[in-house]
Amino acid sequence: MKEIQIKSFAEYKKAYQASVEDPETFWENIADKFQWQKKWNKTLEWDFTKPDVKWFQGGKLNITENCLDRHLEKLGNKTAIIWEPNDPDEESRYITYRQLFVKVSHFANVLKNNGIKKGDKVCLYMPMIPELAIAMLACARIGAVHSIVFAGFSSTAIASRINDSDCKMLITANQVYRGSKPVNLKEICDEALRSTPSIETVIVYRRTVEHTPMLEGRDKFWFEELEKVERDCPAETMDAEDMLFILYTSGSTGKPKGMVHTTGGYMVGTTYTFANVFQYNHGTSKENDVYWCTADIGWITGHSYIIYGPLAAGATTVMFEGVPSYPDYGRFWEIIDKLKVTHFYTAPTAIRALAKQPIQFVEKSDLSSLKVLGSVGEPINEEAWHWYNDMIGKGNCPIVDTWWQTETGAIMISPLAGITPTRPAFATLPLPGVQPALIDEEGVEMENIHEKAEGRLAIKFPWPSMARTIYGDHQRYKEVYFSAYPNMYFTGDGAYRDATGNYRITGRVDDVVIVSGHNLGTAPIENAINEHPKVAESAVVGFPHDIKGNALYAYVILYNDVEPSEVLKDEIKAEVSKIIGPIAKPDKIQFVSSLPKTRSGKIMRRILRKIASNDTSNLGDTSTLLNPEIIDEIIDRSLV
Ligand code: WTA
Repeated sequence: MKEIQIKSFAEYKKAYQASVEDPETFWENIADKFQWQKKWNKTLEWDFTKPDVKWFQGGKLNITENCLDRHLEKLGNKTAIIWEPNDPDEESRYITYRQLFVKVSHFANVLKNNGIKKGDKVCLYMPMIPELAIAMLACARIGAVHSIVFAGFSSTAIASRINDSDCKMLITANQVYRGSKPVNLKEICDEALRSTPSIETVIVYRRTVEHTPMLEGRDKFWFEELEKVERDCPAETMDAEDMLFILYTSGSTGKPKGMVHTTGGYMVGTTYTFANVFQYNHGTSKENDVYWCTADIGWITGHSYIIYGPLAAGATTVMFEGVPSYPDYGRFWEIIDKLKVTHFYTAPTAIRALAKQPIQFVEKSDLSSLKVLGSVGEPINEEAWHWYNDMIGKGNCPIVDTWWQTETGAIMISPLAGITPTRPAFATLPLPGVQPALIDEEGVEMENIHEKAEGRLAIKFPWPSMARTIYGDHQRYKEVYFSAYPNMYFTGDGAYRDATGNYRITGRVDDVVIVSGHNLGTAPIENAINEHPKVAESAVVGFPHDIKGNALYAYVILYNDVEPSEVLKDEIKAEVSKIIGPIAKPDKIQFVSSLPKTRSGKIMRRILRKIASNDTSNLGDTSTLLNPEIIDEIIDRSLV
């Protein structure tokens, strides 16, 4: 989509200005470049007090017509997806836009044939294989709502997500290899399916030859179902504000939040940001850009920047099934050479882990195809930024440090590759259409962008790809995001702004900890720990970790008669792994006799965070504590 690409810094400034002065006209001009079955009649209606945001009302479209049908004439034979398997000896798959179009339409009929209709919810628990992309697009084709659960989550996590949105169908694979380890996805699903009454059908893709237990009547094989249906499937007509998908993200309290994204605005936002941030160029067929985002499709980064954004823009997007360490730590770099990757988008935690390995792993590859490097998911520290720039980009590839969230749907603050001057560890400037605000401790906006400032990051004006609600809990949506500051969306992040207006995101200011780029709420982890029959209470905080960015530290109170032991620590970790997933396992567990609490009974996490970070010189005001004596005990024992 060259027609929506900004080509110079002067143009960026002009576009930004225009987007603030007249946001509606700005976005209308962009939305016009897409394929609508019927044009919208109202560009924007919004009220952050309710909150209620609607973009392109009255517009009718189907996002898959924009990702597939629209490209057939000119790009039909262009590769849409390159799939790279976990095992380097297995063959890569190249799927053209035309092939993808056929596969999506064909599978869409499988959904229909199994009773799925517009508005029904379908849960996907799939490995990183093209069938995941096909299944999600097939849902969108017929107007079903996909809810993708990252295939590293536990059966309990799957069940709670399925039940929260009453999914009618579950799509999974029998098994997958991640590195040298098999993961029995269907078995994990079977465990979940014991407590998910809304699921009527399970479609199973056979990824390996491993035997798969199937439940007669409920479980059906992907390939057998395809044989029963036709290949043509016209796209369902969707309203711009119809739900496209639900994606769960961790909250600081209680159960995960099902963020709801709608069709029109999400499409416009993801495609516009993809085209501009990465400066993807189609070139000729010989010098076609190859874009690779290493995220899993189970996270928002995969939704927006492996599938919807790149495909709507007609790009070639890579899907990688494996892990960066298999068969060795050179895998990413080998894939870049093999597929001639031009745009590489990954997370700081991966960069740090790879930077720790002997440099020979990098040097074995040539990496000369690379043009642009991206980073997402957490703050990238300067050291990692420089390593990425020098060792991978060889000083020739602009780095785009992209700040955004599941809730924002698309990138919000980021350089445009090769256009915006970069500054190490800074996400730099807001994209056109994004109006950030830094708020001080009194809740007042620090408006002067020519003065350095540090505070909490909020957004003052709606943007098309923002989430519209939390599924089934609009009140929570309002409380979490629209109650901190009147008339603003609150991000939950802190940020610093330099005197030229560049932003650096400093990290979460709530009880969400980002571990290896994964958002984890501390409350659900505490609940999981407390499920252990010997645990009375617990508190979980984050502490800095060289590779993961943050790791989890759990303070655990045992019941009176229980002896603390290493075995018990392992059991507690296993409990968390079972209930949430291995990514949520605490790195450190300390048994304590009580927790520092205020008179109103609130745990003073600030202190626990400092102790976990080994930063006990200044613990701040502890005068409101009910039990200040506990602090010394916790510090003493934290050293063992
Ligand atoms: C953090 C991922 C610093 C931030 C797209 C945000 C970042 C949370 C960056 C959202 C970045 C994401 N620099 N921090 N470039 N990108 N974050 O929902 O704390 O998985 O609020 O979306 O990740 O994580 P989520």
